[in-house]
Amino acid sequence: MAQTAIQSPNDVVDFLVNQHEKIQSLFAETLSASGKAREKAFVELRRLLAVHEAVEEAIVHPRVERKIAEGAAVVEKRLEEHHEAKTVLKKLEKLDVDSEEFTRQLTELRDAFLDHAEHEENDEFSKLGGELTSDELESMGRAAKLAEAIAPTRPHPGVESQVVNLLAGPFAAMLDRARDAIIGKG
Ligand SMILES: [Fe+2]
Ligand SMILES: [Fe+2]
Repeated sequence: MAQTAIQSPNDVVDFLVNQHEKIQSLFAETLSASGKAREKAFVELRRLLAVHEAVEEAIVHPRVERKIAEGAAVVEKRLEEHHEAKTVLKKLEKLDVDSEEFTRQLTELRDAFLDHAEHEENDEFSKLGGELTSDELESMGRAAKLAEAIAPTRPHPGVESQVVNLLAGPFAAMLDRARDAIIGKG
């Protein structure tokens, strides 16, 4: 098939960049709301972040490590940032969503996310776009969509996970469940 400049709707890079935009909107929505509306937007933000990061770790990072010069170092840095975000989210989950501290920490997390996403787009996605064929980018995109479809939409499946939930916080539990679902353990 002839290569064209028009990207496929299944292209993994388009898919993940689009998710970055959705996550950015959810940060804005959470920050501008209050009370129940803020809580609801924050839950959706965490869900999308968990799925997005699990997809990056399962589908994108292994390719970056193999295909891009210094890929392992790039991936290591991004994983540290994922870990930092998880730590901040754990703190946020314990705060009153209408408190000043919540707003301050969520604003910092948004700034860190924007910086992180820019690094991913410049140091990983655009380089992968240059190294892989459109067929490869499409099959990774289909895997990413499938992963999103099977990833859990709730932090815990039932009462048995309440303990895990209390210990690790809902975001951490969601991230673990998304990872398990994507790599086939769920
Ligand atoms: Fe990421
Ligand atoms: Fe990302």
